[in-house]
Amino acid sequence: MLLTAETQDLQEQLSTLSSFIGNTPLFPITRAYSKPGVKIYAKLEWQQLGGSVKARPAFRIIQDAVKSGQLQPGQSLLDASSGNTAIAYAAIGAAIQIPVTICLPENASEERKTLLKAFGANIVYTSRFGSTDEAQEIAKQLYSDYPDRYFYADQYGNQSNWQAHYHTTANEIFRQTKGEITHFVAGLGTTGTFTGTSRKLKELNPEIELISLQPDAAMHGLEGWKHLETARVPKIYDATIANQNLAIDTYEAFDLIQKVAQKEGLLISPSAAANLAGAIKVADSIEEGVIVTVFPDNAEKYAEVLKSLF
Ligand SMILES: Cc1ncc(COP(=O)(O)O)c(C=O)c1O
Repeated sequence: MLLTAETQDLQEQLSTLSSFIGNTPLFPITRAYSKPGVKIYAKLEWQQLGGSVKARPAFRIIQDAVKSGQLQPGQSLLDASSGNTAIAYAAIGAAIQIPVTICLPENASEERKTLLKAFGANIVYTSRFGSTDEAQEIAKQLYSDYPDRYFYADQYGNQSNWQAHYHTTANEIFRQTKGEITHFVAGLGTTGTFTGTSRKLKELNPEIELISLQPDAAMHGLEGWKHLETARVPKIYDATIANQNLAIDTYEAFDLIQKVAQKEGLLISPSAAANLAGAIKVADSIEEGVIVTVFPDNAEKYAEVLKSLF
C-alpha cells in the first residue's frame, strides 16, 4: 500500500506515543491478603495514557487501523463504550489529532462525561435503559449511514483488542514474575484482557491456570464487567480458554476497596477489587502458587462508590 504523507505522519506520532502504553508495574499484595506459599500480584493498569487498561487495546486498534488504511486521515474514530475505552480513544485521539465520536449510555457517570469532553470527544448519548448493547447498535447504525466519515472501531469484535494483551500484557507478566506465574485471573468485559493475556501465557507455559471472572448477577456494580448469561456475548470471546470460571459478588469487591486503600495504599476501582476477590478465592483454594491479576483502573472515576464506602 502506498502511504500518503499524512498517514506516515500519523504512524510516526503513534510510534512516539507507544512508550506511554503498557509496561505497567506489578504490585505485590501483602497485607490485604496473605497466605504462606501463595503470592498475589496485580498490574497497576491506570499508569498509562488515559488512566486505564484500555490504553492497550485502544492504541492497538488505532495503530492497526492506520496501518491497514481502515482509518484514513480526516476520518473520525467511532465506537460504543461506557467508560474506559472511550476515555482511552479520546486521550490518544487528542494526542494524534484524530477526532473521536463515542456512543455513550446517558447514565454514564458525570466524571466520565467530563473526561470525554475535556479530551474533546464528540458524545452521542444513547438510552440509559439500553446499556452498551444499545450504544453498540447506535454506533453501527451511524457507521452504516456515514461509512466515509467514520472508522468503526468495534472494540467488542475487533481482533486488535485481545491481540494488544497477547503482545504486551502477557509478556510483561511473564517477565515480571520471572516465569513463575502459576495462575492468571481476570474479569470479563469485552473479554479482551482475559482472552489475549491468557492465550499468550498458555503458549509461554501450558501449565498456567486461567481463571475468568463474572459478576454473580445480571444487576451488579462492577463497572466494565459483563454478566454473559444475560448480556450480549462479545464476538471476540472464546469460551474454551478458561480452566475455571468464578462468580464475584459486588459487595465482596466493595469491601476490598476499603481494605486495599487502608492496607496497601492503593485506591482501586470496583472491577480491580473484584479481580482481587477472584485472586483471593483462587489463593484460598491452593497451597502454593503465584497468582497474577490486573487492576484495570483506580478509583478516580468512581466518586459515588467511594462516597458510599467512606
Ligand atoms: C474498569 C474496567 N474493568 C474491567 C474491564 C474488562 O476488561 P475487558 O474489556 O478487557 O474484558 C473493563 C472494560 O471495559 C473496564 O473498563
